[in-house]
Amino acid sequence: MQKIELDYSTALISQQEIETYYTQLKPEIQCMQEALSQKYRTKYASLNMPFDHQLMQEVESIVAKKKLLNPSTLVVIGIGGSSLGIIAIQEFLQGTLYNAFNPPLKVYYAETIDPDYLANVLRLVKQELEQSNRVILNVITKSGTTTETIANFELFLDLIKQYHPHDYHEYIVATTDRNSALWKLSCDQNFTLIEVPKAVGGRYSIFAVGIFPLGMLGISIEQLVHGAQSAVRDSTCLEIAINHAALEAAIIYAHYLKKIAINDLFLFGVDAESLGKWYRQLMGETIGKEHDLLGNQVFRGITPTVSIGTTDLHSVGQLYLGGPYDKFWTFVFFTKNKHELTLPDMPIFEHCVSHIQGKPLSDILKAVYDGVTKAYAVHQRPYCTIVMPEKNAYYVAQFMQYQMIKMIYLSSLLSVDPFDQPQVELYKQETRKILSQ
Ligand code: PA5
Repeated sequence: MQKIELDYSTALISQQEIETYYTQLKPEIQCMQEALSQKYRTKYASLNMPFDHQLMQEVESIVAKKKLLNPSTLVVIGIGGSSLGIIAIQEFLQGTLYNAFNPPLKVYYAETIDPDYLANVLRLVKQELEQSNRVILNVITKSGTTTETIANFELFLDLIKQYHPHDYHEYIVATTDRNSALWKLSCDQNFTLIEVPKAVGGRYSIFAVGIFPLGMLGISIEQLVHGAQSAVRDSTCLEIAINHAALEAAIIYAHYLKKIAINDLFLFGVDAESLGKWYRQLMGETIGKEHDLLGNQVFRGITPTVSIGTTDLHSVGQLYLGGPYDKFWTFVFFTKNKHELTLPDMPIFEHCVSHIQGKPLSDILKAVYDGVTKAYAVHQRPYCTIVMPEKNAYYVAQFMQYQMIKMIYLSSLLSVDPFDQPQVELYKQETRKILSQ
């Protein structure tokens, strides 16, 4: 297998600066190396997730059992770290229009509690049940107490119960921490349970929470796991030529010190948009902190944004090239798409756009991408490029694991805790208080 490549020659940071910050990361790299033999006993527990063969096997056997029910529909109920990574991988691999092609298993997501959106999903699920089709619910909440997730679960469980009053529990899979409130309820109700290792934080938990729904949808768990494993190996290596996670963290940090505190992930693929949203949570929650590791109030953060090429060139491209020098871009380009389309040869269009007749769409996309990078060079805008050789499970998992480790390195340079999210917890507590009044 090839690897995703990082080209940082256009980052506009000197090699000397990069090496200085990279050297600062060496103790952190060593800590991560040591954590690899400690399973879930250190704060770096998530690094060991892709190597947890027991959990993978357990979940794969649950997938096999639930597939025997021959369901037509899967509803994934979760939010934040309990949904974003799943949607990112599923849409990236199967496309945002997946349900429209009558796949063997349709998938719907219930994240927030928007009554209009949920009414539509409930309607679609009800149609399935009316036709005697089976529907599996996968409720995912690490804490087991997230208001939105539990509220949504109640709605869908109520519906399932109407059609399966006696054996509804067969259709429910709950993914949560051992002994959470949802864990206890699931034991009482005889729901199938998948455990999220306690030490693995929400935004680092994709290889715990994602295995069941993605496996149900026919995505290769083996490929995902292998991709993630390869990223763990490379990203815990001391050599700068191999450890691109630490290298890119050093570059982003160097920009941060120069007051460039917006990081745009610019993905050249429509089906990659949710991957961008997953990245936004990862960076937002990991880096955005009121206090540093010494307890000083610092209000630190790098604002993550997401752009889709070429669409957003016609939206924010002007701002990016003509606006303030406050952004650093990470371009993500895919060498090979899943499909190849070639334009028909229609000379009548030659006067509209010349030199595209009879050309593969991928060549035109590459020409736009090269045009963008030329324009960035002219305007001295800093970016690095991640090149993914193919759009498959192996590379997307490699990419995500790489980003998770990069974020831990970046938080080390910025002296913030990469694993907590106190202000997210605060809004959750305040919501519960208001609801109790
Ligand atoms: O990263 C985090 O910890 C959060 O974004 C959580 O994933 C999110 O709030 C959902 O929490 P839970 O899985 O407990 O429902």
